[in-house]
Amino acid sequence: MSVLIVAPGKDVSDWTEELKNQHPGLNVYVYPEDHDKEEVEFAVSWKHPRGLFKNYPNLKVVASMGAGVDHITSDPEFPEDVKITRVIDNQLTSDLSEFVLALVMNQTRHLAAYKHQETEHKWNLLKYCRNSDMKIGVMGMGVIGTAVATLLAKNNFKVSGWSRTEKNCEDITSYSGDCELNNFLKQSEILICLLPLTKQTKGILNTELFEQLPKGAYVINVGRGEHLEESDLIGMIDSGHLAGAFLDVFKEEPLPEDHAFWDHKRISVTPHTASITQPKSVVPQIIENYKRLQNGEPLKNLVEKERGY
Ligand code: GLV
Repeated sequence: MSVLIVAPGKDVSDWTEELKNQHPGLNVYVYPEDHDKEEVEFAVSWKHPRGLFKNYPNLKVVASMGAGVDHITSDPEFPEDVKITRVIDNQLTSDLSEFVLALVMNQTRHLAAYKHQETEHKWNLLKYCRNSDMKIGVMGMGVIGTAVATLLAKNNFKVSGWSRTEKNCEDITSYSGDCELNNFLKQSEILICLLPLTKQTKGILNTELFEQLPKGAYVINVGRGEHLEESDLIGMIDSGHLAGAFLDVFKEEPLPEDHAFWDHKRISVTPHTASITQPKSVVPQIIENYKRLQNGEPLKNLVEKERGY
């Protein structure tokens, strides 16, 4: 049995090295180098070519290299009987939480606006909102969303979370299901999207949703680019309903050079960097699942394919 790494365009030498270090003797192939397809029962993948996995007759598991699995579930030709796992990693979770805290503080303390003023040599004091007066809404209360919400609550923000089912987290007000979405949005002065990308959540950040946010709300998207209707966001910022947005993920990555987001004064962008999987940290859980597969034991961090996360 062999492991196949599929991540076109990505330097995966550190993944190969960690897999071999942490499981001496493991046979690791990197797509598209020459390999025997029949030998592969386990793949580790990031943005595989559509339809690829149907050519592997003995493939049992595809492990996502990251927390998100939409790059796998969106393949219409993905074999039905192959299982999908995702990464759940403390390092990844805390990296993302700290990034979001920085973005929130950047907005509440107007750091981007001051940077702009600096370029114009302008000394203009802006009124700021204290953490304890700021209401933040986190959409998507999975492992990462809950960690982000908890870190914000620890920093004295008033935090609410919206998820499919009700959550019970200390100091976080829980809203759930479609029927509670509007009440959640109405009080979210900063909205953070951390939803998984599924058929239900694609395009969820649109004009209709933005209209429910209080005037002057700020939007942070660290979920997936496809959650956002890009022109709706620009329209709502230009109309003055939204104060602005910070985006780390995009429909097309890298963000095309001529994209309107680059020069928009109220939109800040970063190159999908909120949290980056460290092979050293996540390879142990991949090896553990590989061993579980060999021993016929239940896999960890298994994705419910129907649900999409
Ligand atoms: C990053 O986007 C991930 O899914 O881990």
